[in-house]
Amino acid sequence: MTVSILVFAGSVRGQALSGKTADAATRELALQGAEVTRISLADYPLPIFDQDLERDKGVPQNAVKLASLVASHDGFLIATPEYNASLPPLLKNAIDWISRVKQDGSGRTIRAFAGKSGAICSSSNGVFAGIRAANHLRAVLVHCQAEVVSAQCSVGRAQEAFDEAGNLRDEATQKKLATTCRALLEAASISRQRRN
Ligand SMILES: Cc1cc2nc3c(=O)[nH]c(=O)nc-3n(C[C@H](O)[C@H](O)[C@H](O)COP(=O)(O)O)c2cc1C
Repeated sequence: MTVSILVFAGSVRGQALSGKTADAATRELALQGAEVTRISLADYPLPIFDQDLERDKGVPQNAVKLASLVASHDGFLIATPEYNASLPPLLKNAIDWISRVKQDGSGRTIRAFAGKSGAICSSSNGVFAGIRAANHLRAVLVHCQAEVVSAQCSVGRAQEAFDEAGNLRDEATQKKLATTCRALLEAASISRQRRN
């Protein structure tokens, strides 16, 4: 049975390094047999989370759409940039809104991240490769009860890390990406079997 994976980056910038990392992960997951949905958070704009706004206007439709996408896939992979040693506000805000969604568009109860298999990639132009952002993102997702695989791939010096076709130049980093994708697909496949 084909495993479905949702992929997105924590940046919507043109030429985003995390976008390139997400694209490389998308290709690797597809190569390993997954059915991959690659989305951009740019297509799901959200206001900064505010509990007054939530009380007065409810959860925005884009948050419901994102939560429904997470819920309807067997797993997800997020490629995060690093801002001041942590995950960027765009990504944290999207996760915060998703965590507040209780029902999908059809009124079915959902807790998008609960029990969902996830994987993390990070990238940065520095030598730390966004590892601190990846660690913070892991803590956030685990808090939301996602089952995040231990394997993760961090791309350092990311401005030079990709060739013209968008593939990782460094063999060891590509191997790490393949290992991360394999671990995610195994976990997602097991949890899918558990559900069925
Ligand atoms: C507000 C801000 C803070 C940043 N802090 C870090 C940092 O702590 N560590 C790091 O490696 N890079 C840091 N950077 C550089 C980003 O990693 C770099 O801009 C990266 O390309 C952004 O991700 P993107 O290419 O996916 O948009 C920071 C950039 C910004 C704008």
